[in-house]
Amino acid sequence: MKPYLKEHEWSIIEEGFDPDKHEISESIFSIGNGHMGQRANFEETYTGSSLQGSYMAGVYYPDKTRVGWWKNGYPEYFAKVLNSTNWIGLRIVIDGEDLDLNEAKVSEFVRELNMREGYLQRTFKAELREGKEIKVKATRFVSIVQKEIGAIKYDITPLNFDGTLEVTSYLDGDIKNKDANYDEKFWDPVATSLSKDRASVTVKTKKLNFHFCSTMETQLYRNDQKLDVDGVGSEEVKYAGITYKAPLVKNEATTIYKYAANVTNRDHDEQQLETVSSKSLDGAVKKGFEQLKEEQASAWKQKWLDSDIVIEGDISAQQGIRFNIYQLNQTYSGEDARLNIGPKGFTGEKYGGSTYWDTEAYCLPFYLATSEERIPRNLLIYRYNHLEKARENAKKLGFEKGALYPMVTMNGEESHNEWEITFEEIHRNGAIAYGIYNYVNYTGDKSYLGEYGIEVLAEISRFWEERVNFVPQKNVYMMLGVTGPNEYENNVHNNWYTNRIATWTLEYTLYVLDFLKDTDPDLYAQWIEKLDLKEEEMKKWVDIIDKMYYPEDKEQGVFLQQDGFLDKELLPVSKLDSKHLPLNQNWSWDRILRSCFIKQADVLQGLYFLNHEFDIETKKRNFDFYEPMTVHESSLSPCVHSILACELGYKEKAYEMYLRTARLDLDNYNNDTEDGCHTTSMAGTWMSVVQGFGGMKISNDQLILNPFIPGQWKSFSFKVLFRGARLMIHVDQEEVTITNETDIASDIVIHSDKIYLKGNDQITVTH
Ligand code: BGC
Repeated sequence: MKPYLKEHEWSIIEEGFDPDKHEISESIFSIGNGHMGQRANFEETYTGSSLQGSYMAGVYYPDKTRVGWWKNGYPEYFAKVLNSTNWIGLRIVIDGEDLDLNEAKVSEFVRELNMREGYLQRTFKAELREGKEIKVKATRFVSIVQKEIGAIKYDITPLNFDGTLEVTSYLDGDIKNKDANYDEKFWDPVATSLSKDRASVTVKTKKLNFHFCSTMETQLYRNDQKLDVDGVGSEEVKYAGITYKAPLVKNEATTIYKYAANVTNRDHDEQQLETVSSKSLDGAVKKGFEQLKEEQASAWKQKWLDSDIVIEGDISAQQGIRFNIYQLNQTYSGEDARLNIGPKGFTGEKYGGSTYWDTEAYCLPFYLATSEERIPRNLLIYRYNHLEKARENAKKLGFEKGALYPMVTMNGEESHNEWEITFEEIHRNGAIAYGIYNYVNYTGDKSYLGEYGIEVLAEISRFWEERVNFVPQKNVYMMLGVTGPNEYENNVHNNWYTNRIATWTLEYTLYVLDFLKDTDPDLYAQWIEKLDLKEEEMKKWVDIIDKMYYPEDKEQGVFLQQDGFLDKELLPVSKLDSKHLPLNQNWSWDRILRSCFIKQADVLQGLYFLNHEFDIETKKRNFDFYEPMTVHESSLSPCVHSILACELGYKEKAYEMYLRTARLDLDNYNNDTEDGCHTTSMAGTWMSVVQGFGGMKISNDQLILNPFIPGQWKSFSFKVLFRGARLMIHVDQEEVTITNETDIASDIVIHSDKIYLKGNDQITVTH
């Protein structure tokens, strides 16, 4: 599709209304605050195609599994983030005619997502049936300061007539998920209430007893004067609305302010929801729209201070990266360890809003480098809190001990049901262990290991111990019947990545046990007892480490993705006619599985994670071997390739890979943005800039930078929070300048030179 959004450094802008692109824009212009999210649906009636979407973090539904052929071990349900009460609704009727952009003649339509200040704005002119023209300006945001508050300002100006406005401000809880497996509605009514300017709707889920209450207040103004209009309330099941009538005066704006407080029994007592939301609403209404909006802008200013990336000389790249950072910040804010990051964030229903290995493998580095320690720590605590369920999951699949974390989850239980993924894509367990390493390596917070980390590591290690099998005639351990990160091969034996991440987990667990023994023998003893960890077991881990089998082609010097990889016909993607691509839309699954083509980084994922273990020549040989066969049909793929390409000095390739995800949603590159944005892969794009072009790594408690700048850019700069210091790294074609924006000194290695950077100091080196 031809890009249709205007380039701008700080905003996403759509000029002109095209109903065919509306659902794509609904995803792109979504707003969120970690507590709730809202697609960019219109406030007023819209009869064209649209996915109404309003999501509350952590409110999900166990939708009964839909599957053709049941396999033992499948979960009973697929957890889905719930499409919830529509709180933005404003039905606008002008002289008896419904404003509907699907019917009216629309001109001067501009939609803007202002990322600097965190709001969505839409302006347009509409010509109604009898030639009556109006101008509308609608602004809304969900507050990142008061997480339960959403606010709307909706101005209507008649341009060539005096008339009557009838506006019904409503809450509609009778909402259905588009992706419901059996076309069911998931919400039951609880209560509705109406008072003069307020209405409230409480609904609850049919299962799991989630209660959600939305309370709204609406006010009408003209020329800064509040209009004294009495509303007429109407209630239906799961619905409450208040209708106001007011005269419309030619060339004068009538403003509708709508405030909503959205609360759930995840945070409050179920019996008190209406009271709590009403109280929260009082505060918001008292402040008023403009003050709430100012608070929003200053809170976003702080977010940008910690996480902005500036790219000079390429507006399109600048817009792309800021969009990604914006989406990540509005999806997960890290205060609540019960929450996580769905692959689509709050922008759509696909992937059910559930947690995947994407979090540890791709998102964690972003939050590590751009937010306070407690925020990425909460991502780890989330998995810690799911440990019991992961143990149960392992038992359910027939393991005697250990923990297998789910591939897809809301509450720790597996909710995915494709056998080749649910049962076989066990490498996810390794990513969860790696997340612990990554967190400790980055933050230096070793206390995490003794407090929580060791329990998770030991239980994952036990899983690997049982999952491998010893082959006496070869004196090796193997891992049979798995799916690696490359989902275009299933049920393979000895996926190199899975074998290696398994032994790496064992090594790291043993290292952590040693560390605890040395530093806190009492704590060590407590864990040994609690985990009932025997010397024998640890010896077994060492034996597995020593005797694990890794498929390799010694002649070519490459690790083999799996035992049978060299039996395939090996072809580069460049040899395929482009009509075959993407393979997942053009080829049968059988053909994909037999082919050599790779969906996403697999062996290379291992070389990326365990980067320090391999020399540059090994990385180069493997990259040269695998990248040409990779179709990157997961949006998580290009970033890993881009980072490795940077390290290998493949500048063109690095930039090419970076471009594949930098504007994935803004340019609807995969033709699927209407389903929602690729939020978790946005973190990968951030990694491409910081770890790829910036060459940032952490080793031995030091920040290491190896920056290189794509020829297309004049300069780029990024921020990282590292051990209390906030550093701004600015890279241009000649130099690298690091500014320490805090009082805390930092040791840094740039292009192999060790530098001590004092607080509030700056240093420049040439490169
Ligand atoms: C990828 C997985 C990923 C999932 C959710 C799939 O297409 O292959 O690695 O976890 O999408 O993003």
